[in-house]
Amino acid sequence: MLERTRQLWEQQDRHVGDRHRLFEAVAREVAASSVLYPGSYVDLAPSFVWPSVTYVDVDRRAERFFSDERGVSELLVAHDVDPVHHAVKFVNADYADELDLADCYFDLLISLYAGFVSEYCTRYLRPGGVLLVNSSHGDAAMASLDPRFRLRGVVVSRSGRYSVLTEELDTYLLPKRDVEVTVELLHETGRGIGYTKSPFAYLFERVS
Ligand SMILES: C[S@@+](CC[C@H](N)C(=O)[O-])C[C@H]1O[C@@H](n2cnc3c(N)ncnc32)[C@H](O)[C@@H]1O
Repeated sequence: MLERTRQLWEQQDRHVGDRHRLFEAVAREVAASSVLYPGSYVDLAPSFVWPSVTYVDVDRRAERFFSDERGVSELLVAHDVDPVHHAVKFVNADYADELDLADCYFDLLISLYAGFVSEYCTRYLRPGGVLLVNSSHGDAAMASLDPRFRLRGVVVSRSGRYSVLTEELDTYLLPKRDVEVTVELLHETGRGIGYTKSPFAYLFERVS
């Protein structure tokens, strides 16, 4: 493994195994084989769980990380994954641009701390597929306004352990302040909405 690959991974995995545990919890709830992760940076952890993951990022460091195929393979092996059976694809692009990916293809779309991924990339998610999204950059709020989605669960974290809750979903996504959440407001602020409950992330199912 190249030294820079090791360093980038160690920075990414500072809370050792945290992302791995997150994606394992999601995998227990969502049956998926093909995953799309726009704005991934070097977060390789989905490939420890799912057999086919396409990563998209504009950052050159992400491109260098994924181009070290040997290093990526070593990281997979270190997580008990056979690289022969796990496809890792990286696209060095702006996810807002037209990507050379099939529409309505992926089972799971991941949006974590990377802007309005759902706005641009839901087209690649198949109906019945699931969006995993957190609220920090406003993308959970954006998905909640999108008629293509219905809330299917929330991901909560307690002492570093993740689980998915599917009950009482109508008690989530309620703004703390009396504010009308609109697409325009989200674009203007580029920030998440403060809700009365703050799970780590949300699972939205694409219904149309
Ligand atoms: C804060 S990092 C989050 C990385 C990763 N999702 C995580 O949670 O660890 C945001 C990443 O999104 C990427 N990004 C932001 N906007 C993007 C866009 N329009 N197209 C592609 N990548 C983008 C950045 O280059 C950066 O690597």
